[in-house]
Amino acid sequence: MTLKGAVFCVIFFTSVTGNFLSCPKLCICPPGFTDCKYNNFSNLPLGLDKNVTILDLSYNAFQVFPDDLNNYPSLEYLNLSYNKIHRLQNDNFRRLTKLERLDLSHNSINWANIGPYTFSSTLNLLFLDLSYNPLGSQHVGENPLQIQSLEILRLNNCSIDHLDNKLLDKLPKLKELHLSENPITSLFWSLASTSLKFLDLSRCNLKHVSPRVFVNLTSLQTLYMQQNINLKSFYCNSPSLRYLDISNCNLESVPRGYLPNINAANLHGNHFRIIPNKSFANYTNLVMLDLSYNALHVIDENAFVGLDKIERLDLSQNTLSDLSPNVFFSNTNLQFLNLSRNYLNTVPNLNSDFLEILDLSFCEIASVDQDCLVNMPRLKILNLSKNIISVLPDNFRGDALRVLDVSLCRIKTVNNKTFALMSSLRSVNLAGNRLTYASPSSFAQVVSLNISDNPWRCDCSKLKDLYDWLSKTGKKLDNLYCESPEAFEGRSWLSACQKDWQPDITRSDSVWWYTTGLIITVFVILFVILAMRRMYLLKEKRLREANEARRNEEREALRRMHRMQAEAREEASRNAPDPRELQTPPSYNEALLLPRLDSSHPSLSASLHSIASKHSINGSLTDVAKRRRKRRRRKSDSSEGQRASRVVVVDSDTSEHEPEPRTTLESDF
Ligand SMILES: *[C@@H]1O[C@H](CO)[C@@H](O)[C@H](O)[C@H]1NC(C)=O
Ligand SMILES: *[C@@H]1O[C@H](CO)[C@@H](O)[C@H](O)[C@H]1NC(C)=O
Ligand SMILES: *[C@@H]1O[C@H](CO)[C@@H](O)[C@H](O)[C@H]1NC(C)=O
Ligand SMILES: *[C@@H]1O[C@H](CO)[C@@H](O)[C@H](O)[C@H]1NC(C)=O
Ligand SMILES: *[C@@H]1O[C@H](CO)[C@@H](O)[C@H](O)[C@H]1NC(C)=O
Ligand SMILES: *[C@@H]1O[C@H](CO)[C@@H](O)[C@H](O)[C@H]1NC(C)=O
Ligand SMILES: *[C@@H]1O[C@H](CO)[C@@H](O)[C@H](O)[C@H]1NC(C)=O
Ligand SMILES: *[C@@H]1O[C@H](CO)[C@@H](O)[C@H](O)[C@H]1NC(C)=O
Ligand SMILES: *[C@@H]1O[C@H](CO)[C@@H](O)[C@H](O)[C@H]1NC(C)=O
Ligand SMILES: *[C@@H]1O[C@H](CO)[C@@H](O)[C@H](O)[C@H]1NC(C)=O
Ligand SMILES: *[C@@H]1O[C@H](CO)[C@@H](O)[C@H](O)[C@H]1NC(C)=O
Repeated sequence: MTLKGAVFCVIFFTSVTGNFLSCPKLCICPPGFTDCKYNNFSNLPLGLDKNVTILDLSYNAFQVFPDDLNNYPSLEYLNLSYNKIHRLQNDNFRRLTKLERLDLSHNSINWANIGPYTFSSTLNLLFLDLSYNPLGSQHVGENPLQIQSLEILRLNNCSIDHLDNKLLDKLPKLKELHLSENPITSLFWSLASTSLKFLDLSRCNLKHVSPRVFVNLTSLQTLYMQQNINLKSFYCNSPSLRYLDISNCNLESVPRGYLPNINAANLHGNHFRIIPNKSFANYTNLVMLDLSYNALHVIDENAFVGLDKIERLDLSQNTLSDLSPNVFFSNTNLQFLNLSRNYLNTVPNLNSDFLEILDLSFCEIASVDQDCLVNMPRLKILNLSKNIISVLPDNFRGDALRVLDVSLCRIKTVNNKTFALMSSLRSVNLAGNRLTYASPSSFAQVVSLNISDNPWRCDCSKLKDLYDWLSKTGKKLDNLYCESPEAFEGRSWLSACQKDWQPDITRSDSVWWYTTGLIITVFVILFVILAMRRMYLLKEKRLREANEARRNEEREALRRMHRMQAEAREEASRNAPDPRELQTPPSYNEALLLPRLDSSHPSLSASLHSIASKHSINGSLTDVAKRRRKRRRRKSDSSEGQRASRVVVVDSDTSEHEPEPRTTLESDF
């Protein structure tokens, strides 16, 4: 945001002053600073501010050093890393006298292509990075890096295979030299510098380092030698050295030599098997020593003699099975000892007056002696986690012990004598053991107790004391589960024993539940009754309505029938009545109506409907009737069969399926 803001300001300012060319397009130019990264430039962009002090041209495509840079003598910082520059010439920096930091890493520069006077004008250069250039072996002639002012020189991964004083000779103020990842397989010659403080020779594939190499580096304080995986032994004399990292090499013996000022040494990840007597006798000022992740199985009783100032010693991840009780006796400042992940099968009875923290986790310790801590009178923290201890001794002594971690062991019981003599004990971790019962009297002085993940036997009356004590003293109650008796397996203490432990709460609880249940049941029954009643009423009402409707319909139908009868009669009287016809009972309409009066409702309505439709086409019906009558008169002799067929016609007319009778009727026409 600020950068963007700055860019905007610059653009605004330059456009106002009409000097827009002072920042090249594609570059970000806050005042004094020009960032031209990632532009594929192979020539210097136009429009650089004449007074620019910081210029970043990294990740471009320069093949040669841009000589035009000499037009910008204010430059103090120049970054040309990640380009393709392959040579540096004598006058390249002729006017860049103010240059302080120059990064030329990740280019293609070779020693032979650096002119001998290239840096003769850069009188203020403090930092030079030439890492990741294929500089190669230093040629026999002059060292081209003659820079009186240089303090930091980075030459990581430069294919340098040889190192001697020619490099340091002309760099009188050099403080830091980075030579990591160069294939320097051996160092024979003494390096000399009174200014050099930091030297990085890590990952250099060093195989042989002569004892005299560092003697005349009289200011050397930090030496990185890690990951030289072919280094088998190391002898180092350096009166000034304070920090040595020689981890993850394959050293087979502890580095020897004279290191009177060394303060911390990291010897992690080597192949030490034995530490002989007085190995560190010349490391008189050592405070921190890391010997972890080696293959140590024997430590001489006098191995650490002379380490008078040592405070922290890490011996973890070795294969120690035995330790002499007096091995740390002379280390009167030793406070922290890590013996984690060794093969000790008992707590070593160490003699160490000042030890405060002892880590013995993952050590396959099976037995603990009652008096094993008596010679560590100041021991405050003991970690015995992840061992195979099944019994803690009665009257385990540890006067100063405050924190005891015995989690994830196999401890079956603790009683009120176990910690009785540990008057300072405040924190005990017994999580993940095999405790089935414990009495609160065992932990009288303990403030923080972890007893989770144990196979507790939920004998509720017995366990009550412990539960009461835990809850009264505000200790954690999570992860307390029963494993026996079978009925309670897998249940939490509280759910298994609540009935016994909190009967009042349980009773009032159950009364409450009972009452609530009763009320709910009553409500449910009432609701059901009401719903049923309502449904019944609704049904009845619907039935009544249906009946009413049917009755109305019937009444309506009857009325229509009567009307039709009357009409028929009227019609009959209009047409001159045939005396013979009058004699033939029953008439058409009578035959139609008589048998149907007490029949079911739908067929009745259908018959009525058909009648109604006949009635609606009254005119045509009268014609048909007339014709029929004529026919009837013609066939007077077969009147008996005629009558029968007419009955059939009417009958089928009223029924649901009409076609057959209709056709008979139509065929009649
Ligand atoms: C960089 O510039 C060269 C020519 O100077 C061109 O051939 C190349 O394609 C450019 N690369 C990119 C990534 O723009
Ligand atoms: C550059 O610096 C000079 C002297 O320090 C000054 O006179 C000049 O105005 C500056 N130029 C710009 C563009 O800032
Ligand atoms: C030079 O630029 C590169 C890439 O942008 C960056 O990683 C490096 O730290 C810069 N060098 C310095 C000395 O700032
Ligand atoms: C130098 O760097 C290259 C690329 O990063 C790497 O492959 C090579 O292993 C390094 N050389 C050494 C000696 O570590
Ligand atoms: C260290 O320097 C001194 C004086 O310059 C010289 O006498 C001595 O030989 C040098 N030591 C080694 C091992 O080169
Ligand atoms: C201790 O330093 C002395 C004197 O430099 C040397 O003779 C001796 O071998 C060194 N001891 C060890 C164990 O490196
Ligand atoms: C180491 O102890 C052995 C005897 O246990 C002795 O012979 C030898 O001289 C001692 N080495 C040192 C350097 O003290
Ligand atoms: C002891 O060493 C082990 C293994 O290296 C490590 O996990 C543990 O954290 C160390 N203990 C302490 C207290 O630093
Ligand atoms: C004890 O060691 C174990 C395993 O390294 C670790 O998890 C635990 O935190 C340590 N306990 C204490 C009190 O440091
Ligand atoms: C220790 O436990 C025993 C029984 O296990 C009991 O008789 C004794 O009173 C307890 N002592 C204390 C101090 O609680
Ligand atoms: C107790 O130990 C268990 C298992 O190791 C762990 O999960 C829990 O966090 C510990 N509780 C406390 C209060 O330290």
